[in-house]
Amino acid sequence: MNVARYFDEMSYAPAPESDSEARAWLKRHAEGFHHVIGGALVPPTDGARFDTIAPATGEVLARIAQGDAATVAAAVAAARKAQAPWAKLGGHGRARHLYALARAVQRHARLLAVVEALDNGKPIRETRDIDVPLVARHFYHHAGWAQLQEREFPDHGPVGVIGQIIPWNFPLLMLAWKIAPALALGNTVVLKPAEFTSLTALLFAEIAADAGLPPGVLNIVTGDGATGSALVAHPDVDKIAFTGSTEVGRMIRAATAGSGKSLTLELGGKSPFIVFDDADLDGAVEGVVDAIWFNQGQVCCAGSRLLVQESVAPVFLDKLKRRMATLRVGHPLDKTIDLGAIVAPVQLERIQRLVAIGVAEGATLHQADVELPQTGCFYPPTLLSGVQPSATVACEEIFGPVVVSMTFRTPDEAVALANNSRYGLAASVWSETIGLALDIAPKLQVGVVWINATNLFDAAVGFGGCRESGFGREGGREGVLEYLKPKAWTGRKPRVVAAPPTARRVEQRFATPTLDRTAKLFIGGKQARPDGNHSRPVLSPKGVRLGEVGEGNRKDIRNAVAAARAADGWSRATAHNRAQILYYLAENLSARADEFAARIAAMTDAPPAKALAEVEAAVARLFSYGAWADKYEGTVHTPPLRGVALALNEPIGVVGVVCPDEAPLLAFISLVAPAIAMGNRVVVAPSERHPLAATDFYQVMETSDLPAGVVNIVTGASADLAKTLAEHDDVDALWVFNSAEVSALAERLSVGNLKRTLVDNGLLTDWHDPAAAEGRIFLPHAVQVKNVWIPYGE
Ligand code: NAI
Repeated sequence: MNVARYFDEMSYAPAPESDSEARAWLKRHAEGFHHVIGGALVPPTDGARFDTIAPATGEVLARIAQGDAATVAAAVAAARKAQAPWAKLGGHGRARHLYALARAVQRHARLLAVVEALDNGKPIRETRDIDVPLVARHFYHHAGWAQLQEREFPDHGPVGVIGQIIPWNFPLLMLAWKIAPALALGNTVVLKPAEFTSLTALLFAEIAADAGLPPGVLNIVTGDGATGSALVAHPDVDKIAFTGSTEVGRMIRAATAGSGKSLTLELGGKSPFIVFDDADLDGAVEGVVDAIWFNQGQVCCAGSRLLVQESVAPVFLDKLKRRMATLRVGHPLDKTIDLGAIVAPVQLERIQRLVAIGVAEGATLHQADVELPQTGCFYPPTLLSGVQPSATVACEEIFGPVVVSMTFRTPDEAVALANNSRYGLAASVWSETIGLALDIAPKLQVGVVWINATNLFDAAVGFGGCRESGFGREGGREGVLEYLKPKAWTGRKPRVVAAPPTARRVEQRFATPTLDRTAKLFIGGKQARPDGNHSRPVLSPKGVRLGEVGEGNRKDIRNAVAAARAADGWSRATAHNRAQILYYLAENLSARADEFAARIAAMTDAPPAKALAEVEAAVARLFSYGAWADKYEGTVHTPPLRGVALALNEPIGVVGVVCPDEAPLLAFISLVAPAIAMGNRVVVAPSERHPLAATDFYQVMETSDLPAGVVNIVTGASADLAKTLAEHDDVDALWVFNSAEVSALAERLSVGNLKRTLVDNGLLTDWHDPAAAEGRIFLPHAVQVKNVWIPYGE
């Protein structure tokens, strides 16, 4: 009789996963958790702790230690002490440890999955089938990189002590994404979990200690934003890796400016989910479910902007609404539910507030008529349709189970809408026409594209974004490089800029200066007078006036950036074409080697042979990048999912370059050539003291078929030019090889559009050494990797 009723109702009964093991573990820590520092459990200063709450019930699960600056300092000291021995262990030694961690995660998979579901509120189905298996995969994969490190990255070493700050949406998975590459490559870590979700990090630290991870290699300091900010500020941290909100990412960018710390930021998104009229609509509906209701939409790359081709929009939205009615919201430990709880009341309020704004701004609200649990933080699957592209809900990250929909008519309109965002993390394209999908993918300004799929992740495939979604990649070879630094960049002291000789001194010593001519700026392929009509003298070290160059200002930089923006054909030119032009530049420079050598000798007082050697090295460098232009290619990943991922090295766009005074021609070429070889356009501030090698180079460019606007040169005061470049929102990346002060200024001011920066702070001392100044050291900075996931095979 009962069975017949079930057939009639076809409803689910709860299927709860047991939490007894997790409860027993929590009970063992009933007196409150400690920090994990140097292999020891360290109590919080003055016993300061805060509650961690189960969002599904409001129950206090445990008391978490609040870290302060002193705790952070102790953890950094422990990490520093452990770093050299950990690095000395060698790739194989570390590979064994990472393998042990992978195995330990698999052994404790169930406990980890349950604790994660309790603490975060996400469904056990997801922690069990997605988060934890991916965590294990990450350690396996990076055990492999450790094993191969010496052979694959012989020119690089570890960065040192890494501070890692992670969010609450994938607490354990983010931990794995961060620590697996860092540890594999010989770094040690201080990790701060998010305050809402510290438990799995603490459990993992126990598991890692049992698995034999040496003390101090992984330190966990729990706490809130203040703890994170103390970690960011600590002077003995070599790198900060952050995932979280764009707002905090900006603060961290500003706080680390000029500190010499390297930085990667994985921030928010508002990722488009594009459905063409020839898509498999039922498949695409399931795609939307995975895109926005996976993890309650609390996913940085969630497909939160649904763009549907107008002709199929009514039928598609209708299908979607019907599917929404079947989604089940409930207790995270119930194996039959699709959506669990929202992480915290504050996040729930944010979602409610933004949805109310969406409705007030004219969107049509549709919420699935699903049953919500009586207590706890829950929100139903929600669709806001008829949304204007400029509406708040179309621009702001909601970070909840809310998708906003818009329509488009043509593929071009779809691309324009998709790119109409300050973010640039991911995109999903649905069409049964492979030609259309592959035509759209390169036009999307994002780090990841999924074709007929969504939210796919793998340790071998890099993940990360551009624009206000941050910079840097996690996973893949490109992710490994984020935790390495070139061995040849060993100079420790900040670059010292000698005071230039003054004009007064010149006048005292040379009554009649040998005035040559005034070199103009080079903008959009033409020599241009500086906007302010001012020029500055160029003096030899002994004070001889060698000529004058234009004093570039804000307006000149703006014009140069506009010219570089307009030269976007270069980014689409074939690598073969770019290679030919680099060789041609080399040929034309070589033909005038004596003239350039004489200029360098006059500007720097270098002996003639040394000056000539610099020109020859510049010619060779142009040749090298001609060679690299069509060889620094991407790769094809075959992740353990149906399909392949194409890792494509794309140009970043417009790169600002601020050159040093040493090796004025060679450094200029060493910085410009990799950027343009990879398809970027540049705005260059050449050496402030010795700019004439760069201005002489105009004629080489003019005779080498380099398209107008690819290289633009603005002479003047490095600091002023760097400042304008840093503040300019149309400059996508900035390379500063100048004084520590100029580097700091550039990093601090680049927060506006969160541009990617490369500063050397004097670490690169020998521009003649190809190991330090050429090739694989620079090329990763000249590209951004876009991973395009394509279904392939059965
Ligand atoms: P958040 O960015 O404040 O927190 C992320 C991490 O940064 C946490 O560990 C936090 O303790 C730490 N933190 C906070 N302030 C800090 C500071 N000044 N210095 C150093 N570390 C600091 O994110 P929150 O407040 O938890 O969420 C707010 C919004 O951020 C969400 O609604 C969502 O839109 C976005 N978010 C995006 C994530 C992503 O994966 N892209 C992840 C989490 C949140």
